[in-house]
Amino acid sequence: MNFDILINASYLIASVLFIMGLKLLSSPKTARKGNFISALGMFIAVVVTLLSKEIIDYKLILAGLVVGSFIGVYSAKKVAMTSMPEMVALLNGFGGLSSLLVGWSVYVADPSISILSAITIFLSVLIGGVTFTGSMVAWAKLSEKISGRPLLFSGQKFFNFTLLSAMVILGILFSMNPTVSYSSLIGVIAGSLLLGILLVIPIGGADMPVVISLLNSYSGIAACAAGFVIANNILIVSGALVGASGIILTSIMCKAMNRSLTNVLFSGFGSKASGKQQEILGEVKSLTSQDAYHVLEAAKSVLIVPGYGLAVAQAQHIVKEFSELLEKNGTEVKYAIHSVAGRMPGHMNVLLAEAGVSYDLLAETDDVNPIMNTVDVCLVIGANDVVNPAARDDDTSAIYGMPIIEADKAKNVFILKRSMGSGFAGIANPLFFKENSSMIFGDAKKTLQELVAEFKS
Ligand code: TAP
Repeated sequence: MNFDILINASYLIASVLFIMGLKLLSSPKTARKGNFISALGMFIAVVVTLLSKEIIDYKLILAGLVVGSFIGVYSAKKVAMTSMPEMVALLNGFGGLSSLLVGWSVYVADPSISILSAITIFLSVLIGGVTFTGSMVAWAKLSEKISGRPLLFSGQKFFNFTLLSAMVILGILFSMNPTVSYSSLIGVIAGSLLLGILLVIPIGGADMPVVISLLNSYSGIAACAAGFVIANNILIVSGALVGASGIILTSIMCKAMNRSLTNVLFSGFGSKASGKQQEILGEVKSLTSQDAYHVLEAAKSVLIVPGYGLAVAQAQHIVKEFSELLEKNGTEVKYAIHSVAGRMPGHMNVLLAEAGVSYDLLAETDDVNPIMNTVDVCLVIGANDVVNPAARDDDTSAIYGMPIIEADKAKNVFILKRSMGSGFAGIANPLFFKENSSMIFGDAKKTLQELVAEFKS
């Protein structure tokens, strides 16, 4: 059989494995298997690529493999689950840098290239450079190495647009006559690195998960362009898959927050208090853990709605212990997980999985809302925006239209938080003033410890 056919058939198998892996990654139950299947696809792709090329010396490749594997395994083992977005930001960034280096080195090795090759080199360098420095800024903001506040200055959008236009002009000059236009390529490299920084600094730290998902998509597009540069089909396919899945995840996150991508990228969300709001009527009632215990002890069904405060309080282990005590007491317990609860995709799933909460107990917004009026106690733990009825009822609210968990429709709502303070969106929550709502003020972990102690005594 023709060697080329064999190589492309193996690439096809690898591509199918990538697609199957992506599908399986969409649910926490199958994600592990999805990861394994995708890794198997990548293994086949790498081995087949090495066999298909004339490798002059394997020593450098082996050294890279050993050092890279060591760093990869060490960092993946060491990273806290909650720091995953930072790690993903670094990985995206390095992916972008690789595409930049591939494009650059192919040109340096032989500058007498066709216009088409020059265009693909320009694209892999431009998108790779933006992805690299953009991801580094996202990483620094998330890990609090720099301030997470949006950094805005006047004329910022105009400056970025001018810089991008200048690079497109340099790209055209480079592509029209690549052999003698090395300086244009250097200009594109420098400009892309600067643009990556400038595009991410005006975005607030809390929006970084969306930005990281977008940069993930960019890193895929850059890899796809690099695939064209070195005429490697599997790199083109895998780059396109990453590019497409990244943009889909970005759009899912924006939809779940009811914000447009333009709003995330350009509004400087978090730099000032947001929006107007209808006046809130009602009165706030507060309960002690002891009072709450009596209601919880008699409840037939309890729905737990975790939010960002659960992560801040690190209350995932105690909430598991608490829910087991409820179940022992004959109460039906479920967790309602909002898709943007917390600060990163799957934040609550990750925390609860870390504590060993069974996936079977988790339900999504659309599953719990129709049965909310049958729930005896809805226990809101450190969640705020994702249960804010203003998103449903108040068309002047900054979060109007965002899907919410309708905790206010439960028979009783207990809200565990430290104060009347607002959440990510910076707006008041009418849920706290409802007739059936009671606040249990204090750190969520401490309150849950008190409730556990009550059950145990
Ligand atoms: P938030 O609306 O941000 O509210 C979290 C609440 O937790 C705060 O009101 C805070 O109130 C409370 N809290 C903080 N520390 C606590 C502690 N130690 N003990 C008890 N409570 C504590 O959280 P949410 O409901 O999860 O909503 C997420 C928000 O983030 C949404 O607006 C979403 O759009 C946004 N967002 C999400 C993502 C992703 S991908 N998940 C990405 C970017 C933005 P106190 O200060 O009074 O305690």
